[in-house]
Amino acid sequence: MERIGVGLLGMGTVGTGVFKALKSNQDVILKRTDTLFEVKKILVQDPDKKRQAEDAQSLLTTDFQQVLEAGIQVVVEAIGGLEPARSFIERAFEAGCHVVTANKELLAKHGSELERLARSRGVQLLYEASVGGGIPVLGTMRHLLKSNRIHRITGILNGTTNYILTEMASKGTPFDEVLAEAQKLGYAEADPTSDVDGFDAAYKLAILARLSFDAEVPVTEIPREGIREITPGELVLARRLGYAVKLLARGEQYGEKGPVSLAVGPALLPLTHSLSSVDGIYNAIHLEADVVQDITLVGQGAGEEPTASAVVEDLCNLYCLPPSKFIPSEETLLLPSQHSGGSRF
Ligand code: NDP
Ligand code: HSE
Repeated sequence: MERIGVGLLGMGTVGTGVFKALKSNQDVILKRTDTLFEVKKILVQDPDKKRQAEDAQSLLTTDFQQVLEAGIQVVVEAIGGLEPARSFIERAFEAGCHVVTANKELLAKHGSELERLARSRGVQLLYEASVGGGIPVLGTMRHLLKSNRIHRITGILNGTTNYILTEMASKGTPFDEVLAEAQKLGYAEADPTSDVDGFDAAYKLAILARLSFDAEVPVTEIPREGIREITPGELVLARRLGYAVKLLARGEQYGEKGPVSLAVGPALLPLTHSLSSVDGIYNAIHLEADVVQDITLVGQGAGEEPTASAVVEDLCNLYCLPPSKFIPSEETLLLPSQHSGGSRF
């Protein structure tokens, strides 16, 4: 049995879920991976805040250096945002630690640089939880890419907006009220603008495009529209007419290594469409590829437990799988001018 020290950054929705899952499923993890993951230190902002997992209290610190010096081999970053998350990850690499993160904003904006840095230090950066919550979407893509060219991605990639649209359509609940509920349930980002204005879905789409199309598309160039202007009345009317409104993220590559079109925005889906019944906190990702034809993955896209499942899966993979070769190479990254801006819905 191998003992692996884990430094946990953040003890909010995701950090708490990871801490609890490593304990509750320790037996399963040990049996399947022969590895015992031990959280040695937890970095937080406010050490006096009451925590759900009371046994975490003695591990809290506000000093990242103490995390690095706690005898760890892996850092789990669950703080969110660009800084200080990025600097902490870079320092973890410098110290020879692998990093697992759920931080889609950071990955969408600086994922390639961080992956290059990790490679140069001989460590790994894994981020299954950054897209689709508990759905193993990146792992599935990596499997598919061994034998397929993925050419189209269509997804409901944000749980908060799907939850809001579902509640507004089915119960007529006002937008602000459902958003407050989503925040209370731990689904929304620290700044929920990221969810409701489509930034979060655009970050996830950029990550998927990098992996599946080898395309580095700056998030600022992805046409994006959120759900702020949609009213419960409009959703009820759409349903009566046979449509569901979903915030869709769509990506397409035209030809092998060809231009890429990405866009995020609300779309009217006929109620017969497979994604129209993906409701509430659920996400769905429909992949079209040349050999397999198409695959749809559906599951809970946000929240403590589904997200923790994806993070812990990455931790286990660090010690079970060979390092992934499916990291875009510097030579094959598309320059911003080589992709089309995409079209609005
Ligand atoms: P929360 O806001 O619930 O938790 C953030 C945690 O980070 C808190 O414990 C906070 O400390 C700590 N923190 C924030 N800033 C600092 C800092 N400067 N130094 C030290 N600690 C800090 O966020 P979530 O858990 O919801 O999200 C974390 C990450 O996971 C984000 O990148 C998010 O996008 C991603 N994610 C979230 C999902 C979800 O369902 N919530 C799903 C998938 C990904 P304190 O507790 O003291 O305030
Ligand atoms: N705020 C995000 C969502 C969390 O609602 O989908 C999961 O990435």
